[in-house]
This record gives sequence, structure tokens and C-alpha cells, in this order.
Amino acid sequence: MAAIHSKPQLIKTLGSVPSRFGAPRKPTSLRCSAARPLHPRSYSITLLPGDGIGPEVVSVAKDILSVVGAHEGIEFFYNEMPMGGAALDAVGVPLPEETLAAAKQSDAVLLGAIGGYKWDGNEKPLKPETGLLQLRAGLGVFANLRPATVWPQLVDSSTLKKEVAEGVDLIVIRELTGGIYFGEPRGFGTNDKGEDFGFNTEIYSTFEIDRIARVAFEIARKRQSKLCSVDKANVLEASMLWRKRVNEIASEYSDVQLSHMYVDNAAMQLIRDPRQFDTIVTNNIFGDILSDEASIITGSIGMLPSASVSESGPGLFEPIHGSAPDIAGQDKANPLATVLSAAMLLRYGLGEENAARRIEAAVIETLNKGFRTSDIHSSGMVLVGCKRMGEEVLKSVDSQKPIVAVS
Ligand code: IPM
Ligand code: MG
Repeated sequence: MAAIHSKPQLIKTLGSVPSRFGAPRKPTSLRCSAARPLHPRSYSITLLPGDGIGPEVVSVAKDILSVVGAHEGIEFFYNEMPMGGAALDAVGVPLPEETLAAAKQSDAVLLGAIGGYKWDGNEKPLKPETGLLQLRAGLGVFANLRPATVWPQLVDSSTLKKEVAEGVDLIVIRELTGGIYFGEPRGFGTNDKGEDFGFNTEIYSTFEIDRIARVAFEIARKRQSKLCSVDKANVLEASMLWRKRVNEIASEYSDVQLSHMYVDNAAMQLIRDPRQFDTIVTNNIFGDILSDEASIITGSIGMLPSASVSESGPGLFEPIHGSAPDIAGQDKANPLATVLSAAMLLRYGLGEENAARRIEAAVIETLNKGFRTSDIHSSGMVLVGCKRMGEEVLKSVDSQKPIVAVS
């Protein structure tokens, strides 16, 4: 898990940057509606287990959240809702209105995974993935944080040579609610020759670029103060504006060292010398691709969490991996990406830094004890299933000493 290293910094008024990246958050209890419990540190969490291994990994993360909460004096109220293929089967749409409404009303959303062979052939509106895009758009979570950290315990699981992978600790900040994923016009047509075509639009406005750039600069500032903006400004107009605006916003962050890289080069550099990167900011589609690439440097996508946040509403927290239908229901999944997503939920969604650190420390301890699910297993280690891995993390949580805030 990428530590967001805290440095002393001046708190200043930040235009459109989620408060969790700039000034300290207001106590979340202020956001509780009358229907919510009056306990000063209680939060409502919408759980979206989804499909495949989703329910297994979310169940583990939920138990760990509850126990960590008990240690930290935080109470969680869970609301489990259908999403993805599970929702298609239950009510015929991938994101039921009730699910989106519940997510919007809660303090944070924890998602497992969506999709599976069963729904692969569905028309676009009835694909589980469409539900995920609707959820991101509905919550307005424009900033997607995808850390890729090579854990010392797992460095041998990387497909890269040890000397290349060792010490990698980067984060991809992906713009999540714009670009070619959502751009209009889009669709299918037929040309003069009677041939079918499909088309999409890569489009970014100044406002969209500025706000994701500010999030990225804020995060870079709390890490190694190195930001690399990835685009295709040698070809695409949307990227030309992207680069111009990122340069403009850079004037607000003179302490952060900014560089630019074309996406094809970035894809190569990530494999050639991943340690050169600290914080990467990029558009929706480049971020989709580069974050998968970055994830495999770490050895297993089963370890990588993510956070998607908006300016003010609840954030969406999910593992980067998919629903892995081939191992679903067999107690083989690695729950750690979801457990670490729960840590991101605490840090970025609720401002509960100590609780987040508790989870991360417990995961490290569990790995140090040698417990491994099959995706990260190597000789001499103890092979465990999803549930047992969760139990071991819980044991580590319970044996922890109180954690003192460093920041
Ligand atoms: C991701 C996934 C999604 C995306 C799919 C499932 C729609 O690949 O979160 O990276 O393309 O954003
Ligand atoms: Mg992806």
C-alpha cells in the first residue's frame, strides 16, 4: 500500500479539490442525516458485493472494518445492495435506482467486483460494466487513485527482475468520469460503402482537467513531490489542452516537480524503470490501461486497492481486480485488495487515518507471518484461502498496540 507521506504543509483554499486532499475534512458526523445514529463517529457504508469473487472478498473486508472500528471507537452501519450481474439477475438492470440512491446517501461505498461469463453477451445497457460506469458518473467520482506498490514480501512474485521491481511505490491518478468513456457523440453508423462503423469521442474541458490536475498535485505533494502527466499531445487535441492546463495548474504547486510523457513512452518506461515514477496523472482510458500495467509489476492484481472520489459526496472504494468467475465460490480469492480498499475508504473517504493504518499494518504483519493466497504463494509460505486470510488479518488487528497519528 502506498503510504501517503505527510509533510508539513500550509493549508490553503483549494478551488475544486476534494477536501480530503487539501484542508482537513470537517467531522463526517455533520453529514449524517436525521435518520442516522447520533454517535459522533458512526458511518454508513454501502456494500456492493457484486459478482464472482466479489461477495467473498467484501465479506472479509467488512469483518475487518468492523473490528478495526471497534478498536478505534468507530461504528459502521452497513447497507448491502445489488449491483452488476447480481442486480441484472434480481431486477433486470445493472445499477438499480435504489442502489444508486443508497450509495449517494451513505458516507462511503465499498464495491467487490462485477461481471461474469453469463452476462458477457448482453447488449451494452444490460452489461454489468455499464452499471459500474453509471455508478461512477452518478456519484461524480472523477478522481481514481490506483496505488501500485511492490511489497518487499512479494517482490519475487513480480514478472519483472527483482532489481527492477524492488522498491516500486507509485500511484496512478486516473480521470474517471470524462474522456472517451463518456464523450459524445458516440455510437454506430454505416458509411457510403455500406460498411458499419463504431465511433467515440475523446473530449476534455478545462474544468475537468484542472480539477483532476489539482488532486494529482495535492497527492504528489504528500508523497515524493514528483508528478508525471501522461498524454498523447503529439497527436490528440484533447491531450494538447490537457498538457496546457496541467502546466497552468503547476504554477500553483511550485514545490512539485512536474514532467510530461507520451502514453506510448510511459507504457514502456513503466516496464523499463518503474521506480522513476512517483505520482502519475492521466486521462480515463490511458489510466485504465496504465493502471493494469502498473498492477502487474507488483506481482498480483489481487493486492491492489483503489479509491474513486468526488468533490464532496461519498467515495467509491474497490479492488482493481475483476470478478474472477473461474475461482468464484471456491474460497481461493485473495481478499487483500479489498481489505486495502477498505483502508483507502477510511483514509480518503472518512478521514480516519489511524484506522486505515491499522488495516495496512495488519496486512503487512499477516504477510510477514508467511500467509499467502494462491495468487501470491511461493515455496515455504503457508497457502491459505480467502476466509483464512481474513481471519489472519483479524488476528493481527487484535494484537496491535494503539496507533499514534504521525501527521
Ligand atoms: C477498471 C475496469 C473498468 C474500466 C471496466 C470494468 C468498465 O477495467 O475499473 O479499470 O474500464 O474502467
Ligand atoms: Mg481496467
